[in-house]
Amino acid sequence: MKLGLKIEDALKLNPELKKYTYYKNGKIRIDFKSKESLYLYNKTVLKHVFNIDMDFHRDALIPTPVSRYLFIKNLCESFKEENSRDIKDVLEIGTGSGILAIMIAKYYRCNVYATEVVKEYIKLAWDNVIRNNLENRVRIIDSKGKIVEGIPEIEGKKFDIILSYPPFYSPHSVPSKRSFGGAYAREVELIGGGKYGEEFSLRILREGIKYLRRGGIIGLMMPHKPKERRKIIEEEIVNLGLNLKTDKIEVGKRKRYIIKGYFL
Ligand SMILES: C[S@@+](CC[C@H](N)C(=O)[O-])C[C@H]1O[C@@H](n2cnc3c(N)ncnc32)[C@H](O)[C@@H]1O
Repeated sequence: MKLGLKIEDALKLNPELKKYTYYKNGKIRIDFKSKESLYLYNKTVLKHVFNIDMDFHRDALIPTPVSRYLFIKNLCESFKEENSRDIKDVLEIGTGSGILAIMIAKYYRCNVYATEVVKEYIKLAWDNVIRNNLENRVRIIDSKGKIVEGIPEIEGKKFDIILSYPPFYSPHSVPSKRSFGGAYAREVELIGGGKYGEEFSLRILREGIKYLRRGGIIGLMMPHKPKERRKIIEEEIVNLGLNLKTDKIEVGKRKRYIIKGYFL
């Protein structure tokens, strides 16, 4: 599968994008500072590259489909390298629009439990699941503010993969147009806790490990900075007795890290 979509092709597939174009050095470009253009472009990529029909909440972060796909692909391939069985059950924490849950269920044909805390996102994620005919494979669960433990729908279950692109903001983070890829983030997306915003992720690891099948993997996607946050998370994986492996993915100028703990 070719992952990218050239600007020229995106414009042909979705002419609505034309109003956000400009020329630089004779080349056509899209002004991605506008949230609307990012919204339209990513919807177009999802539809034409991934065959996924999705809507996003106007107030939420607009996810980059390619980085999300590389994240789930990395985790699923890592699982397959370690195990001779198929991936059966997956848990996602903080699904937002449902993008990771939908991609993993669609491309790896497994059962996905995905949690979210914002009521409007839960509804949107479920609508997106239905749009893609995945209601038999994906469940969207209201975490009611819990992380993993204490969610009745998950209690007593075991998973092959637990994944999250977690909220990772340090205290007093403010939504800013630039640093959120054109999205105005909500308060709830700006949580994380701890000095570097690592606390939410540490809780996913500490609680999640009890819900992991042997051979399973917990994977968190993290931005490049601050490196202290990645380091704390990696140390916790080792402290919990999991095998640590971190991979780097690059999409355009952005670096993302996939930090994995293997329960071997
Ligand atoms: C960085 S966003 C990731 C969204 C989506 N998975 C993606 O990849 O674009 C983190 C999400 O976690 C959600 N969240 C925050 N606290 C939560 C909790 N206690 N339980 C479940 N989700 C939570 C936020 O509302 C937000 O949608």
